[in-house]
Amino acid sequence: MPSFGLCPRSIAFIVLATALGSDAAAIDPLSYVDQLIGSRNGGNIFPGATIPYGMAKAVADTTSGSNQGGFTLDGTPISGFSALHDSGTGGSPSLGNFPLFPYASCPGDDINRCDFPKKTRANHGQFDQNKVVARPGYFEVTLNSGVKAAMTASKHTALFQFTFPASDGNTSHPLILQDLTDLSDSRQDNGTVSVDEKTGRITGSARFHVAYFCTDFSGPEILDNGIFVNSRATADVKNLTISRSINGYPLPGGAFVRFASTDTPVLARVGLSFISTEQACSNGEAEVPDFKFDELEQAAADAWRQKLSPITITPGGVDEDQIKNFYSGIYRTMVNPQNYTGENPVFDTGEPYFDSFYWSNLASPCLDTVQTNSSQGGSNADVVLADGYLKGITAGIDWDVGYEAVVKDAEVEPFDWSSNGRGGLDSWKHLDWRGFGTMTRSISRTLEYSYNDFVIAQMSQLRNNTADSEKYLQSSDNWKNLYKEDQTSKFANGQDTGFKGFYAPKYLNGTWGEQDPLLCSNIDNSGAACSLQNTAHETFESSIWEYGFFVPHNQGDLITLYGGPAEYVRRLDFLHDQNITYIGNEPAFLTVFQYHYAGRPALSARRAHFYIPRFFDTTPEGLPGNDDSGAMGSFVAFSMMGLFPNPGQNVYLIIPPFFESVNITHPQTGKTATVRNVNFDPSYESIYIQSATLNGEPYTKNWIDHSFFTEGKELVLTLGRNESSWGTDIKDLPPSLGEYTGFNETTSGRRAARNIGTKYKAGFSQGGPRLN
Ligand SMILES: *[C@@H]1O[C@H](CO)[C@@H](O)[C@H](O)[C@H]1NC(C)=O
Ligand SMILES: *[C@@H]1O[C@H](CO)[C@@H](O)[C@H](O)[C@H]1NC(C)=O
Ligand SMILES: *[C@@H]1O[C@H](CO)[C@@H](O)[C@H](O)[C@H]1NC(C)=O
Ligand SMILES: *[C@@H]1O[C@H](CO)[C@@H](O)[C@H](O)[C@H]1NC(C)=O
Ligand SMILES: *[C@@H]1O[C@H](CO)[C@@H](O)[C@H](O)[C@H]1NC(C)=O
Ligand SMILES: *[C@@H]1O[C@H](CO)[C@@H](O)[C@H](O)[C@H]1NC(C)=O
Ligand SMILES: *[C@@H]1O[C@H](CO)[C@@H](O)[C@H](O)[C@H]1NC(C)=O
Ligand SMILES: *[C@@H]1O[C@H](CO)[C@@H](O)[C@H](O)[C@H]1NC(C)=O
Ligand SMILES: *[C@@H]1O[C@H](CO)[C@@H](O)[C@H](O)[C@H]1NC(C)=O
Ligand SMILES: *[C@@H]1O[C@H](CO)[C@@H](O)[C@H](O)[C@H]1NC(C)=O
Ligand SMILES: *[C@@H]1O[C@H](CO)[C@@H](O)[C@H](O)[C@H]1NC(C)=O
Repeated sequence: MPSFGLCPRSIAFIVLATALGSDAAAIDPLSYVDQLIGSRNGGNIFPGATIPYGMAKAVADTTSGSNQGGFTLDGTPISGFSALHDSGTGGSPSLGNFPLFPYASCPGDDINRCDFPKKTRANHGQFDQNKVVARPGYFEVTLNSGVKAAMTASKHTALFQFTFPASDGNTSHPLILQDLTDLSDSRQDNGTVSVDEKTGRITGSARFHVAYFCTDFSGPEILDNGIFVNSRATADVKNLTISRSINGYPLPGGAFVRFASTDTPVLARVGLSFISTEQACSNGEAEVPDFKFDELEQAAADAWRQKLSPITITPGGVDEDQIKNFYSGIYRTMVNPQNYTGENPVFDTGEPYFDSFYWSNLASPCLDTVQTNSSQGGSNADVVLADGYLKGITAGIDWDVGYEAVVKDAEVEPFDWSSNGRGGLDSWKHLDWRGFGTMTRSISRTLEYSYNDFVIAQMSQLRNNTADSEKYLQSSDNWKNLYKEDQTSKFANGQDTGFKGFYAPKYLNGTWGEQDPLLCSNIDNSGAACSLQNTAHETFESSIWEYGFFVPHNQGDLITLYGGPAEYVRRLDFLHDQNITYIGNEPAFLTVFQYHYAGRPALSARRAHFYIPRFFDTTPEGLPGNDDSGAMGSFVAFSMMGLFPNPGQNVYLIIPPFFESVNITHPQTGKTATVRNVNFDPSYESIYIQSATLNGEPYTKNWIDHSFFTEGKELVLTLGRNESSWGTDIKDLPPSLGEYTGFNETTSGRRAARNIGTKYKAGFSQGGPRLN
């Protein structure tokens, strides 16, 4: 599936996960991480060696058409071993720069009989799929040629260890080449490479995203070295500057080093930088001074253990695959975003800087330049920032700048609608009607801008900026302008879905436009353009049906528009049961849990079990779509933990964890939060909460706020086989800007509903986000 999201759900997990520090673990979570989940069938994950948020990501690159994460288990051969990767992205692959490739020897000891170009050397890249070893901080594959490639990584440096088969008869001279290419053959003119005659150090750079490398070797004595262009190599030339070439496919070119024997492995240390060759070399020298592979691997594993061990579970007899599913999901949320601190070519402030080319950009003083390069829809970095702000994340973040940035998103029309801020903002602000017909996506933009403004309003409120808060609360209501109450929806065969009332496009002259509510849904086979194409429609990579639920801040009014909670639930069921939504794409995530808002938390639990493990298992094809930098991973992890965030709000929706209990230790406070199931049933027949206590007191709300984690509270859920009345009263529902109506109201419920509305308008004090 295409990669995108209404709202960066993975980030919410990152905000939580980065806030987790170290604590002793009861079980070793590392043994439950399976990096190969999603390495087949379009998961596009990066399964290789890296540290949490590491820039260096070493893995074997296959020639697969689905090699966005470098490596795949789909039978395609390896064309190189490279050290920069993304994880789980769709579209054309990025990175994979400067691959190495090892030969135990060249035929007849003649370098020109080794295959240098990527296309031909893949003929030597067959490997046994069953002998791939992947564990946190480590990746290993053995080529059919007998060469074993093991790799590990530090922040900006990958360390490869190539072990060659013993030669029979004449001494063989292993050769390692490194070429100026990347996964998508995007190199521009004037790539350069140099090899140092004495040490064999290979340095160079090329313009893809502009990256620099510095490769040093350790092991057998150096026999000779030089450069290659296309399929010819020479030891007489040490420096090369190469053009892109004229035919679209970059001219193969790079350097090689040959070694005197196969007696000891060759260690290749690839230092990386986005700043300069010098920095690439100094990164390598500083991070891996002595080429000690085992020590480096141990450090990488320790870094992972430190990140994963704050989350511990008591499995309660569940299948081990569920534990793997859980920890592998958490693991993937920390493969990306990548920590590019100190490696940003545009500015160097020493402030934290993260980028995965996808969702992420936590916070830095340069937010206004980097934070909204998310080409998908609204300025959803706002949601990430607000999420962090409400949850009291302060480390390294200047919130005055953060606030300026979100306000800029809300106020300044960007030059480039496709990648910055909010396109079409001027018509959002200044017209009396809120739809705008140019440049596509008017419906999804309107919905997303509404939510973006709501999260800004929450920030304004906490900053005691009443004027801004009122202003953005008002515009957060704009989604209502596109609701057409007599709009119906028919399947392609003409059969009516039986639902009335959908969003619809509106023209500048105020009249309604047309878009089939099922267009761009999972069951739409019309071939319509649904993404960023100029010919695309008014919803981005999703249908009006699915966007129909995207009002994360005002489910009360939405439920009322949809005819009350029972009708809302019927519509939500229809969305899932008729396959209108697809769980392999992010807009589906929150809809799994939105039953909570209709007072039916039991149905959220049932729906979560409907999707996990059916659509998320521990096989290489176990992901239903691109992992999108850990988005699928975060869905699995949050769902199985039993606390699903509504990102941008201080709200986690409660279902029973998939394990008997889960502990989460918070690093800053050192306190441990626990969710514990009583009557836990590992066959998952008893998945309905009958009653709950929080720190020993009865708890009936079907959601909880972030203080649960920071203050280390204990939530005990008593389970049963049938839906109960727990969490169903209006007073127990998650916050909503508009009131909940149409419920079987109790007096206290009615009062609570009014309070929720009032509090959201007056102070958002629901649960009390606290800043420290
Ligand atoms: C060893 O090298 C010699 C001389 O180059 C060659 O004639 C012979 O075939 C080689 N033997 C093997 C097993 O490669
Ligand atoms: C490549 O180098 C040549 C010669 O120095 C220069 O004229 C040209 O502008 C360079 N091209 C790029 C894309 O930098
Ligand atoms: C080759 O490149 C190295 C490192 O960049 C440089 O020191 C050396 O002068 C270059 N040699 C030639 C002949 O250009
Ligand atoms: C979870 O925390 C509780 C209370 O601190 C503790 O008793 C229990 O042993 C912990 N369980 C695990 C699996 O860490
Ligand atoms: C990001 O990298 C910087 C610089 O190397 C480091 O100081 C910081 O701790 C890293 N942050 C995380 C979350 O790994
Ligand atoms: C974000 O987009 C702007 C304008 O298109 C560009 O100048 C900037 O380099 C981009 N930043 C990143 C981190 O991609
Ligand atoms: C907002 O006002 C409250 C109450 O006066 C105060 O406690 C809080 O510190 C203020 N917040 C900010 C960010 O100034
Ligand atoms: C409104 O604008 C649309 C699109 O330009 C046009 O098709 C429609 O006829 C207009 N309606 C009125 C009443 O002007
Ligand atoms: C929905 O898709 C699943 C396969 O993922 C299929 O088994 C099921 O029959 C479909 N349901 C409908 C109503 O088309
Ligand atoms: C619970 O559900 C089961 C199966 O759906 C049903 O047979 C049973 O009567 C229910 N029990 C109660 C107490 O409602
Ligand atoms: C309201 O109560 C009636 C009768 O008990 C029940 O059938 C209906 O499902 C309830 N509706 C909601 C939304 O709880």
